[in-house]
Amino acid sequence: MTEPQSHEVIPSAKRLMKSLRDVGYDFSSAVADIVDNSIEAGATKIEINVEFHGDKSFVTIADNGRGMTPEQIIEAMRFGSDRDYSKEDLGKFGLGLKTSSLSQCRFFAVASRTAKQDKAEAYCWDMDYVEKTDKWHVLSLEDKTWAPVVYDPLKKNTGTVVLWWKVDRMLGYEHPYGEHANKKLISMCRDLEEHLAMVFHRFLTGRVLGRETVRMSINGNPIKSWDPFVRYEAKTLVLPPIKLAIEHEGTKGEVLIEPYVLPSQQEFSTIEKFDSAAGPANWNQQQGFYIYRAGRMIQSGGWCRLRTPDEHTKLARIALSFSPDLDDAFKLNVAKRQVQLPAEYRDAIDKIIQPIVKIARERYDRKDRRDSHASGGNLQWPRIDTSDPSQLALQLEKQPFKRIVPDDAPPQVWTLDEVEQKALSVAKPHEKSIIENVFERLRKKLWGQL
Ligand SMILES: Nc1ncnc2c1ncn2[C@@H]1O[C@H](COP(=O)(O)OP(=O)(O)OP(=O)(O)O)[C@@H](O)[C@H]1O
Ligand SMILES: [Mg+2]
Repeated sequence: MTEPQSHEVIPSAKRLMKSLRDVGYDFSSAVADIVDNSIEAGATKIEINVEFHGDKSFVTIADNGRGMTPEQIIEAMRFGSDRDYSKEDLGKFGLGLKTSSLSQCRFFAVASRTAKQDKAEAYCWDMDYVEKTDKWHVLSLEDKTWAPVVYDPLKKNTGTVVLWWKVDRMLGYEHPYGEHANKKLISMCRDLEEHLAMVFHRFLTGRVLGRETVRMSINGNPIKSWDPFVRYEAKTLVLPPIKLAIEHEGTKGEVLIEPYVLPSQQEFSTIEKFDSAAGPANWNQQQGFYIYRAGRMIQSGGWCRLRTPDEHTKLARIALSFSPDLDDAFKLNVAKRQVQLPAEYRDAIDKIIQPIVKIARERYDRKDRRDSHASGGNLQWPRIDTSDPSQLALQLEKQPFKRIVPDDAPPQVWTLDEVEQKALSVAKPHEKSIIENVFERLRKKLWGQL
């Protein structure tokens, strides 16, 4: 058979680059994508600087990873850059550096240095130049004014610095010098800190297998990890993990589900800890799944349309981890901000979460005071074989979640909550709100809040 005639059709650089600015990043998720690359390059220190100078404001993200040679930087600048990915890589599309940067700015540069070079080199994409020429041309960074910003962090060590300039999307360019723009930037930095503390909490605490602990800072302020499961609280229920074997279009993999039921407000050690556990989107929106891919959080909270967020179930938070082999099954999007539960396993996952949601609801409704010990107390988890999801659903139906109170339970010591429950159970309707108010005041008093 003869080869069909072919015609090379190169995309219009200026048109495509402009469209790629809108693939779904906000400032925090755009920085997170750059941080992914730093972690991938073995960085243990990532320093983010956001400098406010009106329309000359800029952002740098500097790491001490293994860096890139000049040829590697140029390849990295390619839209759809090429390299082999290993099983646990955070990267996937060969786009993140470019699309996340363009979502925030019209000019970005990458300076980098490996152990083989004694100084860094830098290249940049400039949308103004691309608009003039309509060519896919990366420029070397000649402008000397940037030298201290991009080269100084790489004087003593290997690593990479990403510079975002002409940050039109970050400031809104009508009044880039005003107090309003400055305030906006400060609030964006606060959101960024919360976002990175959450998305990379496993890396910040050295909990990702095969990776060193990573330190991060914004304008010199270290980022402290935010643990959605508040494992530091004595009354957090850590329920037994479940492994779910998944097969999708010939690819096999495993999903690890780790359920937690957080303490209710009254059970937190302090009101400050309760407030900080609320998370960036607050308690109600932070309930549900925390979906991790190769240790990095992709989704924080929400029930993936299996349920709707409900005040009564807000204490349920469930880690769900999958490895990049299952990207297609989870339909990972380019901005790595969204996944979908594999359609053929939704029922099985729904069955798994029902008992967890039930405990969370009971805890919220204060029916479950006696058994809320850190280890799960005398909660009994069904013993199930999770290798076959259709069977799994069946087994869970046959073995519903049980709570057992041992015969030799020690004499009852009542907690304040239990006393309140007892009082409420014998109270007349008009007395209930008075009782609740009195107990609320008592709790605050005991916590030294009055
Ligand atoms: N900080 C860095 N240190 C070393 N190499 C880097 C760094 N940032 C980017 N690279 C290189 O540039 C390549 C392109 O990065 P880019 O983020 O565009 O794509 P990716 O990480 O491969 O995939 P994804 O689109 O999923 O992010 C990376 O594969 C990596 O080889
Ligand atoms: Mg990347």
